[in-house]
Amino acid sequence: MELREAIAKRYATKRFDGRAVPPETIRELLDLIRWAPSGLNIQPWRIKVVSDPEIKRELHAATYEEPQILSCSHLLVFCADTDLAGLAERLIGRMETEGVPETTRTIVGEIAGEMRHMPAEAWKGYAVANTYLPAFLAQLVAKDMGFDSCLMTHFEPVEYSRILGLPAQLVPTILCPLGYAADQPLPKWRYGVDELLIP
Ligand SMILES: Cc1cc2nc3c(=O)[nH]c(=O)nc-3n(C[C@H](O)[C@H](O)[C@H](O)COP(=O)(O)O)c2cc1C
Repeated sequence: MELREAIAKRYATKRFDGRAVPPETIRELLDLIRWAPSGLNIQPWRIKVVSDPEIKRELHAATYEEPQILSCSHLLVFCADTDLAGLAERLIGRMETEGVPETTRTIVGEIAGEMRHMPAEAWKGYAVANTYLPAFLAQLVAKDMGFDSCLMTHFEPVEYSRILGLPAQLVPTILCPLGYAADQPLPKWRYGVDELLIP
C-alpha cells in the first residue's frame, strides 16, 4: 500500500473482530516504528505489548470499558520515559558504539548536558510529546500491513502502571490497540488547508 493510501484509509477503529495478528507481523511493526524521530534522537519511550486476555480484561476496566481493549489482537502501551539523566547517559554511550561522528556527539552531548537541568515536569511533557510519534507511526504501519488500529488516551495511567507492574519512571501515555476491524469507518472530515494556514 502506498503511504497516501494508508493515510486515507487509516481510521480510529472502535471494534476488532478478535482475529490474532501473527506475532512475527507485530514484531515487524515494532521493528519499523522504532525508526520514529525524536529530539536529539533520545528515544524517550518504551512499549509494553499486551495480548494476554486476562490482562486485557483488567486493562479494559481501566480504559472506561472501551471495546477496543478486549477485542484487539495486541495492545501497545506506549510509555514515556521520565528518567532524563539515564536516557542522556545511554544516548551518549550508545552514539559512540553506533559510529556517530565525534562532532555530532559533542553537540548532542552538550545539549543533553543542558537538558539535564530541565525541570522534571518540563522533561515529562517533552518525553510525552515524543512518545506520540512512534504511536502514530504504528497506525500508519498497521494500515500498510493490512490491519487496523486506534490511538487512545482515554484511560487511567495509574491503573495501567499498577496492572502492568511498570517501573515508576515509565508513564503510560498513549495506547494503540491493533487487530482486524469489525466496524466501518465514520465519514472523515478535517479543516481545509486554507483554515490551517496563518495568513
Ligand atoms: C491523541 C489521541 C487520543 C485519542 N483517544 C481516543 C480514545 O481514547 N478513544 C477512542 O475511541 N479514540 C481516540 N482517538 C481517536 C480520535 O477520536 C480520532 O483519531 C479522530 O476522531 C479522527 O478520526 P480518524 O482517526 O478516524 O480519522 C484518539 C486520537 C488521538 C490522536
